[in-house]
Amino acid sequence: MGLLLKGGRVVDPVAQTIQKLDVLIDHTVIIEMAPEIAHQGHTVYDVSHQFVMPGLIDVHVHLREPGQTHKETIETGTMAAAAGGFSQVCAMPNTTPVVDSPAWVRHIIDEAAKYGYAKVHPIAAITKSSKGQELTEFEALSEAGAVGFSDDGKGVQSAEMMRNALLAAKALSKPVIVHAEDETLSGSGVINFGDVAKTLSVPGILPDAETAMIARDIVLAQAVGAHVHFCHVSPADAVGLIKEAKSKGAHVTAEVTPHHLLLTDHEVLLQGSTAKVNPPLRSETDRRACVNGLLDGTLDMIATDHAPHSTEEKSRDLLHAPFGFVGIETSFALMYTAFVHSHILSLPELVALMSYRPAKAFHLDGGRLAVGQPADIAVVDPISEKVVDPDRFYSKGKVTPFKGRVLRGWPVLTIFAGNVVYNNR
Ligand code: DOR
Ligand code: ZN
Repeated sequence: MGLLLKGGRVVDPVAQTIQKLDVLIDHTVIIEMAPEIAHQGHTVYDVSHQFVMPGLIDVHVHLREPGQTHKETIETGTMAAAAGGFSQVCAMPNTTPVVDSPAWVRHIIDEAAKYGYAKVHPIAAITKSSKGQELTEFEALSEAGAVGFSDDGKGVQSAEMMRNALLAAKALSKPVIVHAEDETLSGSGVINFGDVAKTLSVPGILPDAETAMIARDIVLAQAVGAHVHFCHVSPADAVGLIKEAKSKGAHVTAEVTPHHLLLTDHEVLLQGSTAKVNPPLRSETDRRACVNGLLDGTLDMIATDHAPHSTEEKSRDLLHAPFGFVGIETSFALMYTAFVHSHILSLPELVALMSYRPAKAFHLDGGRLAVGQPADIAVVDPISEKVVDPDRFYSKGKVTPFKGRVLRGWPVLTIFAGNVVYNNR
């Protein structure tokens, strides 16, 4: 039988090319890519005028299982991933309980496999219950399938604890994934420290709360010789520090989110708690530094920090609403519209930032289409415009500051392990 994608333009994020090629899939694997494949009883999808890309990879999502299933489940989160063109996601451990044991790591992998919408790579906690007091069992967690270690949602406050984490992760060749936040500086802040916080009379979060911990962890990672990965980088000064560390040969990688590339704290004036996220939306200077860091390679990849909360929780005032909003179903179209359609990035460059680069940094398979590779494929329509409509999200989280935006570059067909898991053509 087999499945044939006919007439599409195949994006290669490694060769940085776009080529008109048919793609033939047999069971779970790509078996042929050629300019013209005759169909012999295959199921044919006409994808002419569309782009055929490797299934996207997001190293930073919150799937909320175990324990917070009113916000999201592995089932709804991976359906949302498929709708966003993603085939692999890394799930953060700040669930209830925290993913700090091998049993929970295995449970998440098995649960995702049961539904089969996308592959989920659990990230295990650095410290037990992410309380910052006692290191988890890195080796057992790694053996169970954890791709890295993070206390995301919180910073590891003790430098000694972070140093021990880096040593343990180094022995396993896995990254320590840093949510950088010095709580003595972020305090009770709810949005960026600056004019907007002053206008709204709410406590601010200094950019230095993030930058200072990034500086600390660069020093520690370099001394230990470990791989440190910085989550959702937002201050201009932090981008500068990461650039300098890379120039000195440190094993540092970093991600940036679509919201930190596209929005500033001004958005809080317009949208209130909808735009409350941690790290917060920052100043225009910071936003521009993030864009420049992405363009010059300082920031290695795009990650969404897909953080679903219930609409009720997010409707509270700025002091009481939780940090975060959803992102996985809109990220590609947002980035396509803002960066590719406006000629700031080429399409192969964007695809590399959302597939090959994260795969390389986190030692994951995939991120490139080739014969013999798993058939994890996203097909994107570059032409049709569509409004961001949270009511149509597969995610349980419906809150996004991008609601109502008109975007192009929407995923229309996602194939995971040879199966069509999303079809909106
Ligand atoms: O905005 C955020 N939401 N930032 C985080 O670090 C955690 C996340 C969440 O879990 O909701
Ligand atoms: Zn975080």
